[in-house]
Amino acid sequence: MQLNGNKILITGGATGIGFALAERFLREDDNQVIVCGRRAEALADARRRLPALVTRVSDVSTAAAREELVRWLASEHPDTSVLVNNAGIQNWMTPSDDDFFARARQELAINVEAPLHLSELCLKQLRLRTIVNVTSGLAFVPFVKVPVYSATKAFLHSFTLALRELAKAADVEVVELIPPALNTDLGGKGLHDHAPPVSGFIDAVFEQLEAGKVTVTYAHTEGLSRAGEDVLAPAFERLNRGR
Ligand SMILES: NC(=O)c1ccc[n+]([C@@H]2O[C@H](COP(=O)([O-])OP(=O)(O)OC[C@H]3O[C@@H](n4cnc5c(N)ncnc54)[C@H](OP(=O)(O)O)[C@@H]3O)[C@@H](O)[C@H]2O)c1
Repeated sequence: MQLNGNKILITGGATGIGFALAERFLREDDNQVIVCGRRAEALADARRRLPALVTRVSDVSTAAAREELVRWLASEHPDTSVLVNNAGIQNWMTPSDDDFFARARQELAINVEAPLHLSELCLKQLRLRTIVNVTSGLAFVPFVKVPVYSATKAFLHSFTLALRELAKAADVEVVELIPPALNTDLGGKGLHDHAPPVSGFIDAVFEQLEAGKVTVTYAHTEGLSRAGEDVLAPAFERLNRGR
């Protein structure tokens, strides 16, 4: 993808991977970055740290909010050229929990419906050059403590492959970022403290994007994204049973 001269919307860009991508895009020439999220205070904090950011409170879990967000972009930032579908939640749960289905629906709305719908709306209402979808190594090997999360990422991986073909007609490039576990607040504070920092992943993302890659991996997600059952079955055992 072209790394400069873009106006970029990053959903969920006030924290974690989205914020680190925003910071790095702003270091390249002539980029402008818009980030959205649900929490006004997280957006204000991001803006204090990166004053060049444009911020917008938006909860992408509802169709109405997604439509409002893209209407606002089309009117105030019609030159938006990159959509980064980064916002995501991760629910640690099991089907025996009382609120399992309600939480599953919330996860589906944010992790699946939002990237599908925002891609459609932005393709129709803006002159996009690139869509970037953030999936996960768990798209390839489900972690049973986050069963719906893992499935949402498998969905988004599959949809990304199809969208890459479909969007060619509109001359739009579709990129997939496949992070491994990284130290962010995903799933709740502390759950990812054991994981490596986001910075190494971001360096790898920009190296690979500069090299023209459309599927960006890091550490073990390189192998997982290409693996067959002989690798995936033992990886499932290690992840879920510690073997
Ligand atoms: N960290 C990892 O280990 C890891 C590994 C693989 C993939 N990923 C993926 O990377 C992406 C970013 O996650 P992260 O690790 O950086 O965690 P994070 O810091 O929790 O970031 C998630 C962001 O999404 C925003 N968000 C959540 N629901 C939203 C909604 N309904 N509308 C708008 N924004 C929403 C959050 O802001 P608000 O709460 O203010 O809305 C937050 O800024 C996710 O898609 C995640 O699945 C992460």
